[in-house]
Amino acid sequence: MSQPPYVIDQMISAKSIAARIEELSAEIETEFADTDKLVVVGLLRGSFVFIADLVRELDLPVEVDFLEASSYGDAMESSREVRIYKDIRGQIEGRDVLVVEDIIDTGHTLSHVHEFLMTKHPARLKSIALLDKPSRREVDYKADWLGFEIPDEFVVGYGIDYAQRNRNLPYIGKVRFT
Ligand code: IMP
Ligand code: MG
Repeated sequence: MSQPPYVIDQMISAKSIAARIEELSAEIETEFADTDKLVVVGLLRGSFVFIADLVRELDLPVEVDFLEASSYGDAMESSREVRIYKDIRGQIEGRDVLVVEDIIDTGHTLSHVHEFLMTKHPARLKSIALLDKPSRREVDYKADWLGFEIPDEFVVGYGIDYAQRNRNLPYIGKVRFT
């Protein structure tokens, strides 16, 4: 499927993202200071860059796992029907878990994933998203930590794609059709 021509305008620099991750990881370390192991679960594929930077800032005993849920396909609109494509590999019963998401839009994905992981009976289940578009929310879901609040713009970069492209941009940019 081909996309109409577009350019990408920088919205959040790589430097600002790094600074924010330092702040967030300090808060996460405080919250989980007493943990014997924190299972950090990244939602594929969009969170792969964020989770890589986040875990390297966390001075905690960490295990990394991944889960793939999707509601999007290649369109710009959520289908609102969330499916789990790939479950985590590890056991999280009685464990501390941090779910890492790239962006919260309607809220359907994270609220579904949260309910799904709760059925595995973790000790503590917290969530973090790098970006949040509160004006688009359809489901009342509140992440425990948020990187940046952004307006209703379609963004790419730092792991986030438009039809699988632009994940490798080091910054967050908004898509502008030309
Ligand atoms: P939600 O279920 O509507 O909250 O959707 C969250 C998911 O939609 C995110 O994990 C992203 O994969 C995708 N998404 C939401 N907004 C954007 C965007 O601006 N650019 C790229 N993907 C997005
Ligand atoms: Mg996603």
